[in-house]
Amino acid sequence: MLKLPQSFLFSGNGGGIIHGSTCETIVCTLAAARDKALKDIGEDKITKLVVYGSNQTHYVLQKTLKLVRISPSNFRPIAISSSADFALSPNNVRMAME
Ligand SMILES: *[C@@H]1O[C@H](CO)[C@@H](O)[C@H](O)[C@H]1NC(C)=O
Repeated sequence: MLKLPQSFLFSGNGGGIIHGSTCETIVCTLAAARDKALKDIGEDKITKLVVYGSNQTHYVLQKTLKLVRISPSNFRPIAISSSADFALSPNNVRMAME
């Protein structure tokens, strides 16, 4: 229907998903990251999971954290600025993680 190149299709060597909303995308991304992390550190460690993001992130992130059972208090907002085009700075992310 969208006339995507063959490389985007599961029948090619791609395989992606087009989501209907940002919220849906965030839920799927967080669920995939949560599952991968819990597989590595143990299913009982969900309270240890931390999510990093821009301090300008939409409130929908707080709601989606609840949906995937990650405590919203484990969200770590990272300062961004217009001088960096509101992008997350790798240094600020690293400092937040440390
Ligand atoms: C995000 O961080 C920037 C840089 O420190 C600050 O100017 C801004 O007020 C912060 N925004 C929020 C919503 O905290």
